[in-house]
Amino acid sequence: MTKLVKLDPINQEVVVQTNDNLLCALLKKDLHILEECGGRGMCSTCHIYIKDGMDSLSPLNRREQRTLEVITNANRYSRLACQARVLGQGVIIEIPSGMYLDEIENIEDLIGRRAEQPILHPITSKVLVETGKLITRSMITQLKDTKIEVSDYLRKTTDA
Ligand code: FES
Repeated sequence: MTKLVKLDPINQEVVVQTNDNLLCALLKKDLHILEECGGRGMCSTCHIYIKDGMDSLSPLNRREQRTLEVITNANRYSRLACQARVLGQGVIIEIPSGMYLDEIENIEDLIGRRAEQPILHPITSKVLVETGKLITRSMITQLKDTKIEVSDYLRKTTDA
């Protein structure tokens, strides 16, 4: 059995198998989703909003709930795409705006430029650099430190 999932506001549709997670739907559309934690429900990089059809998804699990509690832009319509499985029809999802820190290949290249979109923390979604802000060398140092903290955090949770 298949289910249709709609992506808003880009106005696209994707067909997934029943019980597939929403990450499959996003990846089928070649949307760049970082999956920083490897689909383990421990980061914010697959965080999405459910605009309709929450009842057609698997219920929140404990890990997902805990992660959503630390995601700063989460609300009652939030889910983690890697954890939410599609059980019924009518699901419409929206991807929050912004770019996760770990998507930036070479942070140094940003020095002296203005952020074209908010740069977000990969675990909490906290805005690290606001849109339009001039990126300075000291900001780069902080961003690099944050990047190291995030990979340490995820490595520790893998080892645990
Ligand atoms: S990929 Fe990390 S929570 Fe989904």
